[in-house]
Amino acid sequence: MTPTRRQFSAQVLGSLVAYGLIETLWSRDLLADEVKPTVGAWLKDLVEMTKDLRGRKLTDKEFQAKMEALYKKVDLKALCSLVKLDDVEKKVKLPDNGASNTGIDFKAVEGLPADVGFGRQIFGCKKGRSIVPHGHLNMCTGFIILKGEWEGKHYDRVETHKEHYIIKPTIDQKFAAGGVSTISDHKDNIHWFKAVSETAYIFNVHVIGYDPDIKGNSGRLYVDPDGEKLAGGLVKAAKMTSEACHKKYG
Ligand SMILES: [Fe+2]
Repeated sequence: MTPTRRQFSAQVLGSLVAYGLIETLWSRDLLADEVKPTVGAWLKDLVEMTKDLRGRKLTDKEFQAKMEALYKKVDLKALCSLVKLDDVEKKVKLPDNGASNTGIDFKAVEGLPADVGFGRQIFGCKKGRSIVPHGHLNMCTGFIILKGEWEGKHYDRVETHKEHYIIKPTIDQKFAAGGVSTISDHKDNIHWFKAVSETAYIFNVHVIGYDPDIKGNSGRLYVDPDGEKLAGGLVKAAKMTSEACHKKYG
């Protein structure tokens, strides 16, 4: 007799853990229904790892890896319902340039501290519009696509000069619902997402001021990745104002 999916999962779960195959199953979503955490527990894990980043128990790159793994485990439907994506779609008009930005309240989630340690928001874009290319200082962020499709490009910020950055392309791919990406000062610092479906939405968490040794404001550092190509795959990318960046890329 063919075992049911539940029986099969129960029998093989232990050995898969032992052989390190769990990640493969996560990514294929095979065990999703049985083992995805509730969204409340998922948020608590996010709060804990943020605390560990701020307490310097995790480096920013370790935090990124943990956050990506956690994002990949989320029950996306439950997350969309928690952040009231339906309401946002109904009430928030997507702009003709750039992205909408809607804050999220977690007050209704039981057991979360008053200060979760991170900011959070939903970005929304119409087809062809972008969260324009920018980096940050002293900020770790994580994106998970809630709905729609995006083209996402990321770059390492290798050097900072008066009028430009030297950047290195790291990620250039399509992102569909459930797709994740993270940034920090030391990995994939510059991000840029262009909506390629009629509408598209991203959930974002950002941890500002995680490293007391990094000086400067965490706000957006607008940049033009379409710059002079240098040796070693590097690009000389001019600093931009928000206005100029939105005019070219928004
Ligand atoms: Fe950003």
